[in-house]
Amino acid sequence: MVRETVKWATSEEIKHINALVPKKAKIIKIIKETLDITTFHISSENGRIPFDTAPGQLVMLSLLGVGEGMFSVTNAGDHLEISVKKTGVLTDALHEVVEGQTVGIRGAYGNGFPVDFCRGKNLLFIAGGIGLAPVRSLIHHAVKRRDEFGSLHLIYGSRSPADLVYKTELFETWPAVSDFKVSLTVDHGDDEWQGNVGFVPAFVEQIQPSVENTACILCGPPIMIKYTLGVLDSLGFSPENIFTTLEMRMKCGIGKCGRCNIGSCYVCLDGPVFSLAQLKCLPNEF
Ligand code: FES
Repeated sequence: MVRETVKWATSEEIKHINALVPKKAKIIKIIKETLDITTFHISSENGRIPFDTAPGQLVMLSLLGVGEGMFSVTNAGDHLEISVKKTGVLTDALHEVVEGQTVGIRGAYGNGFPVDFCRGKNLLFIAGGIGLAPVRSLIHHAVKRRDEFGSLHLIYGSRSPADLVYKTELFETWPAVSDFKVSLTVDHGDDEWQGNVGFVPAFVEQIQPSVENTACILCGPPIMIKYTLGVLDSLGFSPENIFTTLEMRMKCGIGKCGRCNIGSCYVCLDGPVFSLAQLKCLPNEF
């Protein structure tokens, strides 16, 4: 009789397997932002999120029997907030969940925004569409610690007024914060829209934000980022002062599956936030 040799997992392998096991969490609140974007407030079953998060970090959110995906934490405190745009099987299923439903969560992953670098500087946030989700985590951080940062300016665009996310913050909360300017644009207005109509890069060019002691946080569709980078360059922003966040092709979140590499970097470990100076050394993603 031939006996099969059993190969036991090493302690290192067990550590990696454990890191992939999600913790149970509950959807405690659902906010419908637009037709295809929903924000979920998530708490663990005992009311405490089992890990800390920094602005710009990511978490893996899973739905039993459907799958899991990596999402930016858009706000964190005693609960996590994650905004999800309908783009496929998992995100469509997430849009069907109800308050009180159990989901899986693991993280937090990635480096997050360079908060220490930004401290003491003016912050220019530029976002398009759902790209405001990761940026919002840093906005909340800066608003809570208002005296640690200079002026705040958000330039944000969406396809239409109905596609603007976080409308209460855009129109009420943030404009009421001291030295916080909010500039909005849409690709196509409607009968009630009184703001700017046009694409984000052209709007940035029109506004001509100052480069003086300013760090720029940029997030949105690749085409928006590509053309906005050109405008920022013409305004004199240096690549070291521009940061963006990449969130593509992630599976494990811990540097094991190899799905998220750009050149020699893993987005899940070395990113998702990169300065433009760092991106210039990597294969072009825009
Ligand atoms: S997501 Fe698996 S290596 Fe980055």
